[in-house]
This record gives sequence, structure tokens and C-alpha cells, in this order.
Amino acid sequence: MPSTAVISPPSDDKRWRIVTGTMRRYGFSPDALIETLHTVQESFGYLDEESLEYVAASLHVPPSRVFGVATFYNFFNLKPQGEHACVVCMGTACYIKGAPAILEHIHERYGIQPGETTPDKRVSLSVARCLGACGLAPAATFDGEVVGKLEASEAVAKVEAILK
Ligand code: FES
Repeated sequence: MPSTAVISPPSDDKRWRIVTGTMRRYGFSPDALIETLHTVQESFGYLDEESLEYVAASLHVPPSRVFGVATFYNFFNLKPQGEHACVVCMGTACYIKGAPAILEHIHERYGIQPGETTPDKRVSLSVARCLGACGLAPAATFDGEVVGKLEASEAVAKVEAILK
């Protein structure tokens, strides 16, 4: 097989067409890596080993680099996510204004750390480096909605609200 051949996706799941479409738009260039990983995540919700290997082979990027990029950026999920998402900003402004206490309250109530999902798959917790709302620090998002000046003691109530 010539090295320029298009690699077959891991399955016939139609979502792979979207992923392949992104890579094709960039001519299967290694420059498409981050954009492609975003597309995999948007399509499947997270990046598993199989998808990372497929992207690596298709873009002719060493798998170690693809795994490195996927683990370096905290916006990529490597595990299946829960139905709901809470993202706590741990950027400098938010950290100073009490983000660690927000994580602590959530951990106390749900037993999850950043990068984890509750056993019932209802909610996933993750952290961000900046949500672009530093003036409202500490900030977090609950199913994508940014909440600023978040008191640690209110965090659990905000999670409960998205679980309803
Ligand atoms: S540091 Fe938290 S929003 Fe920017």
C-alpha cells in the first residue's frame, strides 16, 4: 500500500466520516492534528486509544506525539464523559480567589476529582486553564454556562441544578 493511502477508520460508525472530513480538509497534513482531535471529541465525546491511533496513522504523526498532545491539553477527554459537565477554572486568577475550595466541595459531595465521572455517569468534573472570565474569578461552567464569582459553598447547588 502506498504511504499516501487513506487509512480505514476503526469502524463503520458514520461519525468517522466527519473526522475523516476534517483531515481531508487539511490534506491529511500533520498540521491538522489538534483540529482533528477536536472533531473526534465533538463526534464521540472523548478520545480513546483506537481513535488516537487512527488519527496518528492518517496524519502520519508518531502515535507518541498524538498521545502527548491529547494528554497535554486539558480540553481533551480521554475517558467517556457523564451526561452533565462541570468545569472549574484553575487559572491563576481563579486559583487565587478560591477555585481549590470549589473542587474540594464537589469532591466531598460526589467523590470525584478533575478528570473523573461519577459512577452513575451523571456528571463529569474537569478543570480549565482559563475560561476567559478572569474578572469574575473564581469561575466555573455548568453544562457550558459560565458562572462567575462562585462561592465554594454554592458549587454543589449549581451541580444539582444541572442534574435536575
Ligand atoms: S483564570 Fe479563571 S477565568 Fe481566567
